[in-house]
Amino acid sequence: MFKVMLMKIGIIGCGNIAHNIAKSFQVQAVYDVVMSKCEDIDANVCNNVDELIDECDFIVEAASPQAVIDYAPKIIEKGKDMLIMSVGGLADVKFREKIFTLARKNGAHIYLPSGAIGGIDLIKSAKVAGLKKVTLRSTKNSKTLGYDVKERTLVFKGKASEAIKKFPKSVNVSVLLSIVAGMDIDVEVYADPDVKENIHEILVEGDFGEAEIRVRNKPSPQNPKTSYLAVLSPIYLISSLNDVIRMGV
Ligand SMILES: NC(=O)c1ccc[n+]([C@@H]2O[C@H](COP(=O)([O-])OP(=O)(O)OC[C@H]3O[C@@H](n4cnc5c(N)ncnc54)[C@H](O)[C@@H]3O)[C@@H](O)[C@H]2O)c1
Repeated sequence: MFKVMLMKIGIIGCGNIAHNIAKSFQVQAVYDVVMSKCEDIDANVCNNVDELIDECDFIVEAASPQAVIDYAPKIIEKGKDMLIMSVGGLADVKFREKIFTLARKNGAHIYLPSGAIGGIDLIKSAKVAGLKKVTLRSTKNSKTLGYDVKERTLVFKGKASEAIKKFPKSVNVSVLLSIVAGMDIDVEVYADPDVKENIHEILVEGDFGEAEIRVRNKPSPQNPKTSYLAVLSPIYLISSLNDVIRMGV
């Protein structure tokens, strides 16, 4: 358990990520459409999101892209800080701009963790001089993606805005990369019957030079569909909120 945070943490969606966060921090309140999912978390179980918003001042979304669309506006309008795991919920540029504008107006902070990838810091620095191209090449187990293939097969090639429609649970990171890079990035998705890990390769070209970042993610112990790193990322982010010293970028 990290130090007890001064802020009251609320979590929407009591699945794998939420349970791991609750092991690391004291949580004030939780909400899940399936109430029984909240049972083993030591926190007040809310009947709806409005109750949770009123009780908490830092709200973690760990539910679904639709939950971001449904709940983010009311959370941000009340000036509450929000950590968004289902970044795919921000795929629509108009919606995302609305949320970001609301945050600026109401003094709320929005946190988008790195999740299952690395390289966000590099892209931010590189963007200062200008980015030419950013590509995400993701390889996942074919069954997890819903494909019956005999060998590694390219099942999608296109822009992130289209990729997230086709794989709403699998390419959250492509939307995050698009937001950071300020462009609808290129995405390739490969289905592979022989891999257990989620492999993300991020290829960046810009005035700074070129970078290739490759992450071979182990599945998280409790839910093989979620990369372990994606669980660890929000835990680090929350633990560092009050840090005086900032490392990287
Ligand atoms: N950014 C990243 O790198 C990254 C990585 C992994 C997962 N994710 C996303 O984070 C989210 C949580 O992941 P997880 O592994 O904990 O999932 P999970 O399936 O283990 O848990 C999700 C929980 O949310 C609940 N839920 C769904 N819709 C809801 C709603 N509208 N309101 C309240 N509760 C709702 C479900 O009942 C479930 O208990 C998913 O959307 C997933 O795609 C993001």
